[in-house]
Amino acid sequence: MRPISAPFPATRFRRLRQSPALRALTQENTLTAGDLIWPVFVREGKGQREPIASMPGVARLSVDLVVEAAAEAAGLGIPAICLFPYTDPVLKTAGCEEAWNPDNLTNRAIRAIKAQVPGIAVMTDVALDPYNIDGHDGFVRDGLILNDETLAALVKQALAQAAAGADIIGPSDMMDGRIGAIRQALEAAGHQRVAILSYAAKYASAFYGPFRDAVGASGALKGDKKTYQMNPANSDEAMRLIERDLREGADMVMVKPGMPYLDIIRRAKDMFGAPTYAYQVSGEYAMIKGAALNGWIDGERAMLESLMAFRRAGCDGVLTYFAPDAARAIKAGRY
Ligand code: PBG
Repeated sequence: MRPISAPFPATRFRRLRQSPALRALTQENTLTAGDLIWPVFVREGKGQREPIASMPGVARLSVDLVVEAAAEAAGLGIPAICLFPYTDPVLKTAGCEEAWNPDNLTNRAIRAIKAQVPGIAVMTDVALDPYNIDGHDGFVRDGLILNDETLAALVKQALAQAAAGADIIGPSDMMDGRIGAIRQALEAAGHQRVAILSYAAKYASAFYGPFRDAVGASGALKGDKKTYQMNPANSDEAMRLIERDLREGADMVMVKPGMPYLDIIRRAKDMFGAPTYAYQVSGEYAMIKGAALNGWIDGERAMLESLMAFRRAGCDGVLTYFAPDAARAIKAGRY
């Protein structure tokens, strides 16, 4: 693209900004409820809504309330909800067996949502960390995270989610080879309809802190995740990972976290043109919400501006804890 304009005063950029009508006509990007995926935290019980201190406004919900949340989201035009379980510490083991239990919290929630709110797409998380006594996304032996042994477990986890009715499988573990292994297993088991949204470029980030509180993994985690999540200094590597995952059968790809990595999103969209998503992670949510609650920024405007930034960078959609708030603001015509 080679934008051309005459010299001032023939060109005055302010002409096209002078009224809401002209601003609307020249707006390049849009944000709608249809661009949002809502991550929710699931817990045991009935009628339970347990606030998460580091994510004001977000709570862990029992399955019955997750179903209500899904219905609310569908009513707002949000196309997908993404489930993250808060696993009872007594169910965490070194073998992570709860991850592929057909009746684990995630799988029960999937079935309940699909039965009662069939129109909303259900996305899941594939990684062992909520079930692992060590808090890591893969099996740990002698302090090392095992890649190939973990793949078999991830496949079992993904198959259990697909059998429960998941529409989109989201491998977030960053083991090598998992997309190919999961895709092959899904096809072999007759789950041709199930999509894979790969957390392809996932960085070892400080912005996941509140999430680890939310799923109860902060206390469990030994060490860090730098041997499998990406170095925040790298950009070319992200392109290689995205290409690799697309070649292994990913339908959609994600960059995570979001706002500090808008450059990666733009490169990925330009290079591959695949359906591309960002995860506006827990720490990003907490920063905006925390500042808003202190009266330091206009929370709603900052929320909407941050989400539009993802669209401008090339995202087809965004996973965001703000999804229902954003959808309501958009519906009310405030964006
Ligand atoms: C773990 C997982 C994480 C998030 C989604 N899946 C945390 C991590 O990798 O430690 C983070 C999401 C957020 O911070 O909102 N498989």
